Amino acid sequence: MMKTINVKINSCTYPIYIGRGVLHQIPKIFKQLKISGNLLVVSQKKILALHGARLRSILKKSGVNLSIHIVPDGEQAKSEKELFRLYEAMLRARLDRSSHVLAFGGGVVGDLVGYAASTFKRGVGLIHVPTTLLAQVDSAIGGKTAINLNAGKNLVGTFYHPRVIISDIEILKTLPRKVISDALAEVVKYGMMSGPALLGWLEKNIHRALEKNIGILEEIVLESARIKVRVVEADPYELYGYRDILNYGHTFGHAFEAVAGYRRLTHGQAVACGMVAAGDLARRLGISNSSLSDRQLALIRSSELPTSLKGFGFKPKNIARYFLVDKKVRGGKVKFVLPQRIGSLLVVKGISPSLIEETLKQLV
Ligand SMILES: NC(=O)c1ccc[n+]([C@@H]2O[C@H](COP(=O)([O-])OP(=O)(O)OC[C@H]3O[C@@H](n4cnc5c(N)ncnc54)[C@H](O)[C@@H]3O)[C@@H](O)[C@H]2O)c1
Ligand SMILES: [Zn+2]
Repeated sequence: MMKTINVKINSCTYPIYIGRGVLHQIPKIFKQLKISGNLLVVSQKKILALHGARLRSILKKSGVNLSIHIVPDGEQAKSEKELFRLYEAMLRARLDRSSHVLAFGGGVVGDLVGYAASTFKRGVGLIHVPTTLLAQVDSAIGGKTAINLNAGKNLVGTFYHPRVIISDIEILKTLPRKVISDALAEVVKYGMMSGPALLGWLEKNIHRALEKNIGILEEIVLESARIKVRVVEADPYELYGYRDILNYGHTFGHAFEAVAGYRRLTHGQAVACGMVAAGDLARRLGISNSSLSDRQLALIRSSELPTSLKGFGFKPKNIARYFLVDKKVRGGKVKFVLPQRIGSLLVVKGISPSLIEETLKQLV
């Protein structure tokens, strides 16, 4: 069964299709959306080895003129060098403004391809076929594209929305358990944003996502996508602050990733600890109580994510330094998203540095 979420961005609408085996619906979807002509698929070796043959045969049935471009694994794909290599491939594939580029991969492929699609000939059609849990619940949705500079991650980017997102749950079957666990940090975030119904359901079922239970993964992708779409629709270009709550766990999390040199902690692990820190800070400010922090802690543990950074040798002062370079800091004031109750996150500015330090001392 295929589920559809329609995303409305100002006067435009595009669909997200979610379900098991939706890849096979591509010929029908392309016909409906009048997608034809030259199509460049961008992916990685590992993904093509696992799922490339199937995608290729499905795309053949949809009558497009197919080319394929491979980018390397990891953040290095989001580089100037790879961007220009991709532009060259887009030229060879004879893409013009009526043709499409299809991102077949996780957030790395999606971010790079999105940026290239938005800039090549001032914009060609973009199709997302996310293949990681993180991409299906988070990065493919919301229109943010990015490449990295030596000075930092995601420093160059655009807002560019796709024509369609096709999220096939079956594709997630080949993901390593650790990669799923990592994406669950964002899912816990959605649970905290959404309310007791989703959080309660996650408490019962999140461990089954790690076992790659397809029904559970499908439910998780569907609910997460619904939540992200709702927030993005309210503020498609991040102008009014409505998207701030998507940053829950991330102000702390980005700082943890940075002090860990982007190697010792994954994004999901950092965000998990960031949510623990946010829960602790909220309790210190009297915004919430410890029962909320405890529930969150248990859910993070069931996701096989860390809840403390002890043993890394991080110093609270060094972590605090990174808050100030976070690109979401406007006017020098750090915004923290803190849990008030389940389903209600508050954006708080001007918190005293000594309280933040106490929270950090507790965690590291
Ligand atoms: N644009 C946004 O809004 C947004 C939001 C969150 C994260 N991001 C970006 O997303 C990136 C992280 O994305 P990610 O976590 O998907 O990592 P990723 O894209 O690096 O994928 C993780 C690994 O899984 C492999 N893989 C992908 N699909 C697979 C499959 N089906 N089976 C087996 N292996 C598979 C990939 O080749 C890669 O080695 C970061 O660069 C981050 O900045 C962007
Ligand atoms: Zn994140």
